[in-house]
Amino acid sequence: MTSTDVRGLSGTGLTFPPGFTFGAATASYQIEGAVDVDGRGPSIWDTFSHTPGKTFEGHTGDVACDHYHRFPEDVSLMKELGLSAYRFSVAWSRVLPEGAGPVEQRGLDFYRRLVDELLEAGVAPWLTLYHWDLPQTLQDRGGWADRDTAARFADYAGVMYDALGDRVPHWSTLNEPMCSSLLGYMAGQHAPGHRDPVEASRAVHHLLLGHGLATGLLRDKGADHLGITLNFTPMSPATDDPADVDAARRLDGQQNRMFLEPIVTGAYPVDVAEDLAAAGAPLPVEDGDLEVISTPIDWLGVNYYFESTVRAVTEPTGKPSPWIGGERIEDVEPEGATTTMGWGISPSGFTGLLTRLHRIAPGLPLFITENGSAWNDVVDDDGQVHDPERVEYLLQHLASVVDAIEQGVDVRGYFAWSLMDNFEWARGYDQRFGLVHVDYRTQQRTLKDSARVYAEILRRHRDGA
Ligand code: FCB
Repeated sequence: MTSTDVRGLSGTGLTFPPGFTFGAATASYQIEGAVDVDGRGPSIWDTFSHTPGKTFEGHTGDVACDHYHRFPEDVSLMKELGLSAYRFSVAWSRVLPEGAGPVEQRGLDFYRRLVDELLEAGVAPWLTLYHWDLPQTLQDRGGWADRDTAARFADYAGVMYDALGDRVPHWSTLNEPMCSSLLGYMAGQHAPGHRDPVEASRAVHHLLLGHGLATGLLRDKGADHLGITLNFTPMSPATDDPADVDAARRLDGQQNRMFLEPIVTGAYPVDVAEDLAAAGAPLPVEDGDLEVISTPIDWLGVNYYFESTVRAVTEPTGKPSPWIGGERIEDVEPEGATTTMGWGISPSGFTGLLTRLHRIAPGLPLFITENGSAWNDVVDDDGQVHDPERVEYLLQHLASVVDAIEQGVDVRGYFAWSLMDNFEWARGYDQRFGLVHVDYRTQQRTLKDSARVYAEILRRHRDGA
């Protein structure tokens, strides 16, 4: 893409409200590397990625983007792109190597330096406390299946707020508890790699409880912009056959409603609680838990990548499934182009999701905390990375956000996933989501065309053009 093409974007009609936040997101284990320096304790992702057969070609986050040592360069890139915000997560086991107990100051210092660098660059820090890297010591005591982990999470949140509350304005408790619970404890695709519906259902509830406890504590300590990030996938039935319709109801329940509703309405959806109980994995709710979980938040983080079509089948699929009691439900292959993740592309599903969230929680401001796509990016002979598919995905999805705003949805910001290519969990370094290309051999960063397009959109927005 030439600079003329980038300028040609004026035809896209992407006008955002004044003050709209534009950022990019990352997560600790996906970018930091430096897994055994400065007292960091192991996390479940160290264990999982080092277990043979769990990740693509045995990839691990041992080095990743070496962001731990290169963060000043990465913050300069953010400044160059004109980001007004950066969403990152803290590795719990850098700060509390055993998950609880003694605080490792060197770990905290890393985040202090990062935050200072961001503030200096004029980039607002958005801190996520938990993006999946549970300290291994806590996993050894049962992980999220154990109720005590929720209390330990709140303690850790307090440590972080005491250290950084004066400098970090935006706080988020969890990233995608659906993945931490259902992919980690039910499908076995993510750490800790278990396949146990009872553990999975317990993990769901304890993650939400941890969110509520941490939210209450940070609120008491003075936090005034607190949220949580959930990942939403709209679910449609393949046909109007009642079995398919019921399959879509179940999956919409476990993917979307089971996480959102307790937070915004103070109750689990009745049908979902029944499905889980019928599968022998009831939600372990105790008196008072739902009041804690529904502690008011200031914003909801929305992660959106694709939508799904599902159908019921007569025999169990035999494939590992994240869905509790979902052995007889399968995804229909997406129609049309897919990203290298195999995910379909559906910008209209994004607008539909945002309008639905606005109906369910009308007063709650939404921030898109992740949206993006993976492609086979290469550095070309001209030294550039041409990623037209990502540019198109980005423009289409930004347009969907504009559509939603025009329909009255209160969307206040957008964070691209991701700032740079990184360790894509079980898919390792095989999947590239970055606006910035990373050569893992040299750690060289190269802006992709999509980064230039994004920067141009941000520049116009800043200039009111
Ligand atoms: C989300 C995760 C993020 C990244 C993207 C592609 O589910 O939050 O870390 O892996 O998917």
